[in-house]
Amino acid sequence: MRNFSFYNPTRIHFGEGQIGKQLAREIPPGSRVLVTHGGGSIFSNGIWDQVEQALAGYHFSRFAGIEANPQYDTLLRAVAQARSEQCDFILAVGGGSVIDGSKFIAAALAYPGEPFDLLSGSKPKAAVPMGCVLTLAATGSESNPHGVVTHVERQEKLPFSSPLLYPRFAILDPTTTYSLPPRQIGNGVVDAFVHTTEQYLTYPAEAPLQDRYAEGLLRTLIKEGPKALANPQDYAVRANLMWCATQALNGLLGCGVPQDWATHMIGHELTALYHIDHAQTLAVVLPALLAERREAKRGKLLQFAERVWDIRTGDEDARIDAAIAATRAFFEQMGLPTRLSGHGLDADAVPQVLAQLERHGMTALGEQREIDLACSERILLRAL
Ligand code: NZQ
Ligand code: ZN
Repeated sequence: MRNFSFYNPTRIHFGEGQIGKQLAREIPPGSRVLVTHGGGSIFSNGIWDQVEQALAGYHFSRFAGIEANPQYDTLLRAVAQARSEQCDFILAVGGGSVIDGSKFIAAALAYPGEPFDLLSGSKPKAAVPMGCVLTLAATGSESNPHGVVTHVERQEKLPFSSPLLYPRFAILDPTTTYSLPPRQIGNGVVDAFVHTTEQYLTYPAEAPLQDRYAEGLLRTLIKEGPKALANPQDYAVRANLMWCATQALNGLLGCGVPQDWATHMIGHELTALYHIDHAQTLAVVLPALLAERREAKRGKLLQFAERVWDIRTGDEDARIDAAIAATRAFFEQMGLPTRLSGHGLDADAVPQVLAQLERHGMTALGEQREIDLACSERILLRAL
């Protein structure tokens, strides 16, 4: 096992009714709160009513309109509003986009320089405290230090990260996810699945606990995901999916093991160029990447076949093929296309994606740093 340092300070309040119970306990009395959210979903599903009630007694200012794939210009407007209202606490109410965007706002508010620096490698030295009410189980942003912000004119999705940006608390009430449309249910399950495989499908690293943990998450997602599509208001199913998604990217799974984030890096370019939902890009790239990298990942792919998909017959190559096919079928069962053609794209897209990868220095991806542009090209061609 590799050396690692693990730190995760986010306090999780999990379960039905936790918004009313915990929000006012967590936000320091006297805070001036900037409440951030996306479009209209929190008004139609009753989440806003619960939040507004819990915030009685605080001064708060609401910032609406953080879009899916949060945009830099929108977030700068939120920073200006927070400054003029003298806000000293941020409460994000939403999915990964609202939480990521709020992390950026928290850092930008305390940053003396040009906010764009924070998206080009400068680390914040301080951040306004932030907490969140999660409404979409997918990204793990609710208890990790990462975020991704889109710069529209530059056609870039820019990641940032700092230990200062862990939410202070995260309220995870599974009933908030009852109102998700099927597309977002599928997206969430697939995003959590791919976060797990990217910390698992590499090469054996003498880390059996992390392997079993990953396999437990994957098997749970495979079992519970389709149930959420069939019975959107099944509390137990939603609770299990929500907890899986949080744990898939809260840092614990990846401790001491090699990681391969190539699917995400290629996927981010597809979102920036063609506005494909984050998880939908992953569903296209992962099966193609596994097929292309089958030799480097052979040991783990065989383990994945046996322990996650119960595939035990046939020779090694047949078992790997079957595991990749099962993964593809699962993504499609969750409603996500697994080919670029499913998003109306053909081979003309490939050079554009490669040019973006090159521009962003994504030329040595994967656990072995072996996914160069030629390899990314082969992956994209397999994904057509
Ligand atoms: O804006 P509203 O009206 O709220 O609608 C949202 C949005 O349109 C809707 N929604 C959210 N909760 C709902 C709901 N609709 C009905 N009922 C509810 N309870 O869902 C739509 C998508 O929301 P979004 O927040 O964009 O989805 P998700 O949570 O999948 O987040 C995706 C973003 O997270 C980033 C992605 O790149 C993307 O920008 N990621 C962040 C990561 C991190 N911080 O660690 C890691 C991930 O790999 C990912 O890159
Ligand atoms: Zn993701």
